[in-house]
Formats: sequence, structure tokens, C-alpha cells
Amino acid sequence: MKKLIVANWKMHGSRPMATDLVRAVAEQADTCAGRVEVVLCPPAIFIHEISELLSRSVVALGGQDCHAEAEGAYTGDISAAMLKEAGCAYVIVGHSERRAAHHEQSGAIRAKAQQAIGQGLVPIICVGEPREIRESGQAVAYVTAQTGASIPSSGDFVLAYEPVWAIGTGLTPTSEDICDMHAQLKQLVPSTRVLYGGSVNAANASGILALPSVDGALVGGASLKAEAFGNIIRAAE
Ligand code: PGA
Repeated sequence: MKKLIVANWKMHGSRPMATDLVRAVAEQADTCAGRVEVVLCPPAIFIHEISELLSRSVVALGGQDCHAEAEGAYTGDISAAMLKEAGCAYVIVGHSERRAAHHEQSGAIRAKAQQAIGQGLVPIICVGEPREIRESGQAVAYVTAQTGASIPSSGDFVLAYEPVWAIGTGLTPTSEDICDMHAQLKQLVPSTRVLYGGSVNAANASGILALPSVDGALVGGASLKAEAFGNIIRAAE
């Protein structure tokens, strides 16, 4: 199966930076077209313009979050339908930074995923354990319970296993720990793509992506550098 490589820009970038980075990524991704699927998730304000830049590219777009309701009095929020209209095919929901800073619970994330599916988007649902849970040996039980509570009852979605302690830290789980977790998740949601995220970079991508249960990667920091992200795309081929 084709690997899926998703860039999560988080709250980084500017219009000039976005334009340069998107051009470079599109060039790399189009060279690997048919062998790797690439999705960029920039800050929402850049999506429309980037969508035009990507009109002749295989690179797809995603949002970083959406609201669980279709529309309404939710100042500052963005709906799944708006993301779709701006050119998105995907949306990240339940990222650990939102679970922590915006107190998002798994039930709310499930509702966002359901809303996204209803609007024709594929939600990328993030799950992962904090450091103390990993150290206590309860990571698999914690993540499978979190997954069960976060996934919608029907529709196509992608799961991203992102240990909280691995995000932006340069730390990654062992290959064995990644395989263990992915095997459990695949048992829970057969035929769903399961990505790994957390400190994926140009140096470790080929090792992580070679693991048979890893269907792709969700990349934060390294997705902001054209060369590093290009290497990750090539590693996924
Ligand atoms: P990182 O972030 O690659 O910078 O660790 C991954 C993520 O938060 O999705």
C-alpha cells in the first residue's frame, strides 16, 4: 500500500515562506506520484492560496482542526465544510496539543471526526500516551481506550499514533514499541491506515516507514524544511 506522509505545520509560516515551501514539496511529491501520498496541513488562513498553488499537483491539503458542529456562533472556529470548500481533503483532529491546551476530550474529537466525514473530508485522528503512562507500562491499554473513544462509528478515517513525549523532543519509541502499538491499533480498526508521528525526521524516517505496520507519518518540525521533508517523502517510496 502507498504510504501517506502528512505535514503538520502547526502555527508556523508566512505567505512568502508557504509559497516557497509548497513549490519545493510539490516538485518532490510529483516526482514520487503514484508511490507516495502527500498531504500538507498548513494554518487555515493559508489553505485557499496554497490550494491554488497546488492545482496541478498531486499534493493534497488538510486542516489542523475543525468544529464538531456544521455552523453556528463559535467565534474563532472553522467548520469542516469551510475546509472542504477551501480545497481540503483531510483534517487533523484530536492532536495532543489541542487535547492539552484546548481541553479537548475524546468524545468531542469523535464528534469532529464525524462532522468531517459528513462533509466529505477524511479525518486524521491523533492518539498517544503521555510519558508517565509509557513509563508505567500502560501505554497500549491507554492508547487503545483513547482510540475507542475518539473514532467515529462509521466512515473512512486515518489514525495517527503520536506519543506525547515524542512530539518535538527528538525522542522516538523503539521500533518494537511502535510495532506493538500499531499491531494493537490495527486489531481495533482493521483496514484503517495507521500513521506514526513524533520527531520523525530525514534521518529516522526510512527506519520507521520500513516497519510493516506503519502506513505513513505525521511530521511536524521536519515538514517546515523543504529538504528534510523531501527526504522523508523519498524514504516513503
Ligand atoms: P514533530 O511533531 O514531528 O515536530 O515531533 C509531530 C506532530 O505534532 O504532529
